[in-house]
Amino acid sequence: MSDWEVPLSAVRLTEADIEAANDVYRSGWLSMGPRTQELESAVADYAGAGHCLAVSSCTAALHLAMAAAGLGPGDEAVVPSITFIASANAVAYTGARPVFADIAAVDRPWLSVESAERAITPETKAIVAVSYGGHPGDIDGLRQLADERGLALIEDAAHGSGSWLGDRHLGTFGLAGAISFSAGKNLGVGEGGVLLTDNEELAERARLMRWHGITRSIWERHRASTETYEVSGLGFNYRIDDPRAALARSRLNRLEEDNARRGAIASAYRDELAELEGVSTLAPPENARVSNSMFAVVLDEGVDRDGFRDSLAERGIQTSVHFSPVHRFELYAASGADLPLSDAFAARTVSLPMFAEMEEGQQAQVIEAVREALG
Ligand SMILES: Cc1ncc(COP(=O)(O)O)c(C=O)c1O
Repeated sequence: MSDWEVPLSAVRLTEADIEAANDVYRSGWLSMGPRTQELESAVADYAGAGHCLAVSSCTAALHLAMAAAGLGPGDEAVVPSITFIASANAVAYTGARPVFADIAAVDRPWLSVESAERAITPETKAIVAVSYGGHPGDIDGLRQLADERGLALIEDAAHGSGSWLGDRHLGTFGLAGAISFSAGKNLGVGEGGVLLTDNEELAERARLMRWHGITRSIWERHRASTETYEVSGLGFNYRIDDPRAALARSRLNRLEEDNARRGAIASAYRDELAELEGVSTLAPPENARVSNSMFAVVLDEGVDRDGFRDSLAERGIQTSVHFSPVHRFELYAASGADLPLSDAFAARTVSLPMFAEMEEGQQAQVIEAVREALG
C-alpha cells in the first residue's frame, strides 16, 4: 500500500482478522454490541484491569478519563510536551488547562518526576503520564508523586498495548489509562481505543458519557421489550462499532507474538546502531516488556536532521519525528513553558521503521542507510 521500500509502519491483517470482522458484517449487527462486550472482557482480563470501555479513539478515552476524574474550568493538569497533541487537548476539552513539564533526559523522553513536581500549583488536579513508544518511563515515581499530592494520575498509554512493567500492564497504574487502536498501533483497527480503570465510579461515569449520558445501550434496548431510556447528564458519542471491536479482539490473540518480533527488531537496532558515531538509542527499559510501537533514535548535536531524513528517504526508507513539542504549537504557545530537554529531543529525534513483519533484509537496509547518512 505504500511506495516506500521500508515504510515507517505497516498494517498487515491476517485472514483470521478479516474473517472476524466479516462475521460481524454478515451478522446484521454493526453498532456497539456483543462483540464490543467480548473485546472489553478480553482486554480487561489480559491487562488485569477492573474495567475496560472500548471507545472510538484513544483521544475519546482520554477525554472521558479527564471528565470522569472531575477536571473542569479553573483546574490544571501537568502534561509532557513530547507527546501527541491529544494528551493536552483531552485536558483542554474539559475546560481545564494543560501545564507542560519537561522530559527526564534527551535519551529519556518521558515526563520527569522533578519537572512535574515543579509544575504543580494549588489548581493542579491531575498528572498525565505518556508511555513513549510503549515505555513505562518513570511511572512508579509519577504515581508516588500523584499519591503524595492527592492528584489523579491519568496514563496516556496510547502506545502501550502489550507493555508491562513487572507484572502490571501500562494503563493500570493510575486512576485511569487510555490505549489507542489507531491504524499503525500494535492493535490497530483503523480508529479505536480503550479506557482502563479499577475505579468503579469512574468507569460508570465514563460509560454514561460514552453515549450522551443515556442509561441503556442500543444493544440492551434492542433486546428489551420496552424502548425507554433516561439521560442523566451531558455526554458524547464515543462508541466504537462491533466490526472494529471484533478486529481488535482477533488481533489481541497475536499481540504477544507480534510484540516479541518488535522486541527482537528493537534489540537488533540497538546492537547495530551502538557501533555508529552520531546516533544513540533511547535508554532501554528495566524490568519491563514494551510494545515498541515505534523506534526513535537521537542524533548527536550538530547532525543535520533534515539531511539525515532526506538521505534515508532517497534510499526508500520512511522516517518520522515523534513528536513536535506540543508547547510550541500556536494553540499552546501562550503557556510560555521553558522546556530545554523537550526542545533538544524534539530537534534531534528521528523515528525509524518499526513493524512486526519487518523482514531482516529491510532492517539491514535501514541500518546501512543510517550508516551512509552519518558517514
Ligand atoms: C501519545 C498519544 N496519545 C494519544 C494519541 C491519540 O490516539 P487516537 O488517534 O487513537 O485518538 C496518540 C495517537 O497517535 C498518541 O501517540
